[in-house]
Amino acid sequence: MTDFNNIINRTGTYSTQWDFIQDRFGRGDLLPFTISDMDIAMPPIMQEAIISRVQHGIFGYTRWNHDDYKGSIVHWYKDSYQANIQESWISYTPNVIYALTRFLDLLDPNHKGVSLITPCYDGFMKILKANKFPLFPIAQSIIEKEYRVDWNKLEDAISQSGAFLLCNPNNPNGYLWTREDLEKIVKTCKKHGVAIISDDIHMDYVYGTKSIIPITTVAEELDYLDKVVIISSASKTFNISGLGGAYVLCPNQKINDTFQFILKEKDSLSSAMALNVLATIVGYTECKPWLEELKAYFYNNLSFVDSYLKTNLPEIKFTIPESTYFAWLDCSGLGLSSEQFQDKLVNKGKVAIMGGTPYQEPKTFLRYNVACPLSKVKEGLERIYLSLK
Ligand SMILES: Cc1ncc(COP(=O)(O)O)c(C=O)c1O
Repeated sequence: MTDFNNIINRTGTYSTQWDFIQDRFGRGDLLPFTISDMDIAMPPIMQEAIISRVQHGIFGYTRWNHDDYKGSIVHWYKDSYQANIQESWISYTPNVIYALTRFLDLLDPNHKGVSLITPCYDGFMKILKANKFPLFPIAQSIIEKEYRVDWNKLEDAISQSGAFLLCNPNNPNGYLWTREDLEKIVKTCKKHGVAIISDDIHMDYVYGTKSIIPITTVAEELDYLDKVVIISSASKTFNISGLGGAYVLCPNQKINDTFQFILKEKDSLSSAMALNVLATIVGYTECKPWLEELKAYFYNNLSFVDSYLKTNLPEIKFTIPESTYFAWLDCSGLGLSSEQFQDKLVNKGKVAIMGGTPYQEPKTFLRYNVACPLSKVKEGLERIYLSLK
């Protein structure tokens, strides 16, 4: 059993989460539960492989286009999602968001616009705005603790757009798209000839016996494989975002070739991050047992949040999510605006937690990252409590 209770000091590592809190929250003396990375070390087997590679000492240009790398991705999808990914669909990308931008340009060349369901990952908003894609958002509402989408409104949004952007599962609320949801999305996009890009970076944190269903699985059944793309990475799964590197699964060979041309010839970014290639191979072939242990640990953290709030702060509404390591807290019952609440959290409780606003959530919400030792989760909750008393 891996001991995830161990606190590892991350300050002094140029960590965005720990060393640069001030940038976003205005002061540096806060306990951070902010961006989506973990205070958990990579799997020991991966660490050994990286150490041995570092000791080799030479980090020349490195290739990704080989069976070891692509085969490990094919294996992971088969093993985790019973999905038949082909090696020919795979391209390396320096990160998820770079590929997302390039694929939006390829699939919606006239920038008709992008439809998506909110709340959604704040990084989507930034690239859509910066790359001048009109936005067609549809809000998910919560009815009797269940997330609902108005499918008529969604169809209206899709019909006006050039691409649909999915986050599977959804960051920030941890909603796990069901087969029924995905079928509706694919059918509606097919009806209007709209391409689908699915960002699956959080795919491996799904609790219990459920798992994500890759959009390619549903699209293949509905004869729409040519118009869907998945962009994902081992980075969230094993906490290796700092190593760079992600990948694309694009069944449409012509579009995949065009992407590889852009990656290699236009943007000169095809040479892979050596440590990412190694970490992905090791992670996807040897680290499943570690992931299962960590998921159980995070589920326990989420359960702790649930019982703490019920006992101490019942005004904050929370349902344990089916996926992701975020507790998406509905704090609208406190009667405070997002700004007022953030001010209390930062200046009284000395805790940094992302509010709902960047995720297009109009009500007062918090996205509390529980990917850390339980003792830190507890301290964060006590600080939230303190900030309100
Ligand atoms: C849904 C989602 N997509 C993409 C990213 C960023 O991925 P990358 O750093 O590979 O661009 C994040 C990071 O938090 C994320 O939550």
